[in-house]
Amino acid sequence: MVMKRSLAVFPSLRGQRVFVTGGATAVGAAIVSAFAAQGAQVAFVDVADEDSQQLVADIQAQGFGTVWWRHCDVCDVAALQAAMADARQELGDFSILVNNVASDDRHTLESVTPDYWDERMAVNQRPAFFAIQAVVPGMRRLGGGAIINLGSTGWQQKSGGYPCYAVAKSSMNGLTRGLAETLGADRIRINTVSPGWVMTPRQLSKWLDDATLGQIRHNQCLPDMIQASDVARMVLFLASDDAAMCTAQEFKVDAGWN
Ligand SMILES: NC(=O)c1ccc[n+]([C@@H]2O[C@H](COP(=O)([O-])OP(=O)(O)OC[C@H]3O[C@@H](n4cnc5c(N)ncnc54)[C@H](O)[C@@H]3O)[C@@H](O)[C@H]2O)c1
Repeated sequence: MVMKRSLAVFPSLRGQRVFVTGGATAVGAAIVSAFAAQGAQVAFVDVADEDSQQLVADIQAQGFGTVWWRHCDVCDVAALQAAMADARQELGDFSILVNNVASDDRHTLESVTPDYWDERMAVNQRPAFFAIQAVVPGMRRLGGGAIINLGSTGWQQKSGGYPCYAVAKSSMNGLTRGLAETLGADRIRINTVSPGWVMTPRQLSKWLDDATLGQIRHNQCLPDMIQASDVARMVLFLASDDAAMCTAQEFKVDAGWN
């Protein structure tokens, strides 16, 4: 039996302005929805137009207000930073940034060309750095902020099949650690949230079968499957004032696998 959860409301998130990359589906959509439900003003970018529109409509229908969104391929750094500037112009400076976008396409060691390597880093690594570069001046004006980089436990448990993705996701810990001191001086906190295997539509349709489900059951300490909302709850906490003294850390939401 799954225990009924009684979830927290974070008063400090009400009215905060939040920017999320890759917010249209799966974990990103759960993060966008969770912040909206807390009364935050959310903006996100994604390439999935229909999913983005549907998410915005669903959140509005639930009475959680209007979410700002823009079609933007985050591989184009200039377009990402322009979208962030437009969102800031409309909503104001962002106090929270969630670097969520990623793509875990499979590949082999032998198949990777320099172009493919660059393309993998362009979606899985580079946007996080340049989104931080764009958002930090506003956080400094506000007197502080919170940045959450979505990492992964996949590379930490030596999962194969996506070495470029593993490199990019492991670098989220380096990004967090490498900027924490610089940003901390301005009361900007930066942390990594590393999910375990989350039951998103993409994972369910592409990578999950009886064998991998058996692997999850064998390795997790907890019997239930991780949902996107479980990851979003950790992001909310780290963005809130309740995490005021948490920075430079990695927080795993992996049901005890690692
Ligand atoms: N799902 C998991 O099991 C899992 C495990 C470990 C880590 N993570 C991490 O959690 C985060 C979210 O994962 P997810 O499973 O929800 O991912 P997903 O692939 O299901 O969704 C990613 C979102 O990003 C968007 N996107 C992809 N490429 C884009 C681009 N070039 N420009 C703009 N938007 C783009 C997609 O349309 C989608 O809405 C990622 O950082 C991922 O690495 C997920």
